[in-house]
Amino acid sequence: MKKLFRYLEKEYQKKTPGSAALFRRASRVMVRGGSHTLRLWRPYPFFLSSARGAEVVDVDGNRYLDYWQGHYANILGHNPEVIRRQVEPHFSRGAFHTGFESLPQLELAEKIIASLGQRGLKVRFTTSGTLAATYAVMLAMAYTGRERVLKIGGGWHGASPYLLKGVKYHPGTGFRSADSAGLPSDFSRKILVTRFNDAQHLSDVFRQHGKKLAAFILEPFIGVGGFLFCSREYLELARKLADKYGVVLIFDEIISGFRFCPSGLQTIYGLQPDISLFGKLIGGGQAVSAVVGRSEIMEGCDRPKAAGLRVQFEGGTFSSHEEYMRAGLAMLDYLEQNQDRVYPYLGEQAERLRRGIEKVFRDEGLEAVCTGYGNELVKDSSFFMVNFPQKKIAYRRPEDLWNPRRSSVVLREEALKLALLLNGVHVVHGGGCLSTVHTPEDVNRTIKAYAAAAHLFRRYL
Ligand SMILES: Cc1ncc(COP(=O)(O)O)c(C=O)c1O
Repeated sequence: MKKLFRYLEKEYQKKTPGSAALFRRASRVMVRGGSHTLRLWRPYPFFLSSARGAEVVDVDGNRYLDYWQGHYANILGHNPEVIRRQVEPHFSRGAFHTGFESLPQLELAEKIIASLGQRGLKVRFTTSGTLAATYAVMLAMAYTGRERVLKIGGGWHGASPYLLKGVKYHPGTGFRSADSAGLPSDFSRKILVTRFNDAQHLSDVFRQHGKKLAAFILEPFIGVGGFLFCSREYLELARKLADKYGVVLIFDEIISGFRFCPSGLQTIYGLQPDISLFGKLIGGGQAVSAVVGRSEIMEGCDRPKAAGLRVQFEGGTFSSHEEYMRAGLAMLDYLEQNQDRVYPYLGEQAERLRRGIEKVFRDEGLEAVCTGYGNELVKDSSFFMVNFPQKKIAYRRPEDLWNPRRSSVVLREEALKLALLLNGVHVVHGGGCLSTVHTPEDVNRTIKAYAAAAHLFRRYL
């Protein structure tokens, strides 16, 4: 492994001297040289010069096909024309933040609710998934008068203090440990963690703790946990148990929302949570997230004084910025109007990519297994994550991907990343997602880049 990294880092440094210099400068004024750990890979990240469509260019002039696409927000690629056309005229008039209510906000709220096809829902906007998840938990606690929250091992809902447990896999404790310092010592006891897609475990947890739970939060398609779908039976059970024990069921659709159809993944499954979270692509590339929930729960942020304290859900200074709302509307309009083309195209090209990647590794005598494949309900998935099993396993749960004894995490997260950067492709967690502007030729080029990485792995490992 050492030899492989020595080669990869040396070649990367040769290619990116401008970024290396900027990173040294950044490290003097920013912790670890930046603001988001995922963007700060080893030995240092490249610095961006421009981004358009499927491609980004760094300050040294290197071009990369990008499958990170703004933390999966850019389903139409970077700087999409269809959205720019809608927002640019307003910017030329001076569309800075004003801090007033506006029609685009109302229209975006109506659009999201209409897409879900349910009655009695209310929306409130904020600016990040982290905030949306935090407010949702506060609403659930206020509604139920309870303090415990159940989440899935491997589930990431942003850096919400209520949910920073069972995110990272810790050798020894698995997904049972807290993931952040700087929180009250008893917070960890209030967060319970259950196993992804494990019906028996879920039933046991509810039997034992159900009456004390405020909320059960889960991603119907788990993102960083491994690009895996919850089964329909599991979600049905979650709904049933939440009803039985009076627990608020929260679907975090910040990744899955509008990714598989022009609405939440929940509409494909035919299941209704009490609260849904949306983010990422609902802002059309701007900072928008939404908490959408049953009116009686959402009203918790606006109850009469006599009923006690309300939930202080103020979306923030920049919440529902008029141009963010306009960009979000343009995005959702586009997806709705072009759904027959967009989703099948993404699904078809991603399928080709996943199969192609597995094949080029096989050709080098190495095993790579992709997750992100669709299932019997979701035909078109644009996601792919490339995993290197340490032993024969089926990738069914986050622990299969994140336990280093089952999967080589270093190879996926670090070595593959650099090997692909050397070949003009940028990925996170060994893969990412397609956008509508990744062409079939881009997919071919990407498979070739993975083949070159596979070749390097065989040579140096
Ligand atoms: C499922 C999920 N929920 C919440 C978040 C947090 O969103 P944000 O990064 O906008 O705070 C993320 C971010 O990646 C996410 O994937």
